[in-house]
Amino acid sequence: MARKKITIIGAGNVGATLSQRLAEKELGDLVLLDIVQDMPQGKALDILEAGPVYGYNTKITGANGYEETKDSDIVVITSGVSRKPGMSRDDLLQINTGIVKGVTENIAKTSPNAILIIVSNPLDAMTYVAYKISKFPRRRIIGMAGILDAARFSAFISMELGVSVENIHAFVLGGHGDTMVPSTRYTTIAGVPVEELIPQERLNEIVERTRNGGAEIVNLLKTGSAFYAPSAAVVEMVEAVLKDKRKIAPCTALCEGEYGINNLFVGVPVILGSNGVEDIFEIKLNEKESVALQKSANEVKQLCNKVDALLGL
Ligand code: LMR
Repeated sequence: MARKKITIIGAGNVGATLSQRLAEKELGDLVLLDIVQDMPQGKALDILEAGPVYGYNTKITGANGYEETKDSDIVVITSGVSRKPGMSRDDLLQINTGIVKGVTENIAKTSPNAILIIVSNPLDAMTYVAYKISKFPRRRIIGMAGILDAARFSAFISMELGVSVENIHAFVLGGHGDTMVPSTRYTTIAGVPVEELIPQERLNEIVERTRNGGAEIVNLLKTGSAFYAPSAAVVEMVEAVLKDKRKIAPCTALCEGEYGINNLFVGVPVILGSNGVEDIFEIKLNEKESVALQKSANEVKQLCNKVDALLGL
């Protein structure tokens, strides 16, 4: 069976760590692309040389141009500037719109059938940029954020209760910003609603920490943003697609009426399979959750309006 081809655009912390994780899992052959001369080639070779020790046979190539990425099955876009302490993700809108636009134009030409996974920030708006520029069908444009946010929520609950992360099913909706909606009602521990195990006041603090999870890392690192958990989240998505798992996971997807949201990319539970977003998984929200999701969607909408202006749409 021919191996799948996965391209990672951007060989910074997220791109390089993602390449390492994907190589170790032998999910396909990899191309790591960056505009910096020699750097992606160096990182790719280094990861390749770890293969004999770790026992993987993944082929990985570094590249500065798009020729090597031709006919990729999956392309992960991590390119762009990351925020510094004191900045919000939205402060990156202008600069990263230009970067994601340029990358997407190239990818749409060289890998017209690829599934795109977007990681650049502000996430929901950058996913929209990739959609508008590539003109790919909605099922092939997916933003990575919900799995990361849910992982943070799970990690904090695990620390609070002293139970395995494997027992926790955290549920997060909305944009990947300060208005994201971690749902305590649908978050369960071994099937038991978390609201029965942690007092509401304490849960509110955990929800707040989850919302600020990205900023917490930025403030600690000082010169960049998180990359271990984000890259792990992308691996889960790539694996679900390549193995056609039909896995339900929170991802940024184009809603066309689902959850009462129209023509907007926002974080919702989706079914991930070989076609990308196979479907959006709709569940009932109560009044409070619906209002919170709508608020978050409105914030994403404002950013997308700014993107339209930047792209001249
Ligand atoms: C994250 O949540 O870690 C990323 O979106 C990066 C950031 O700027 O917070």
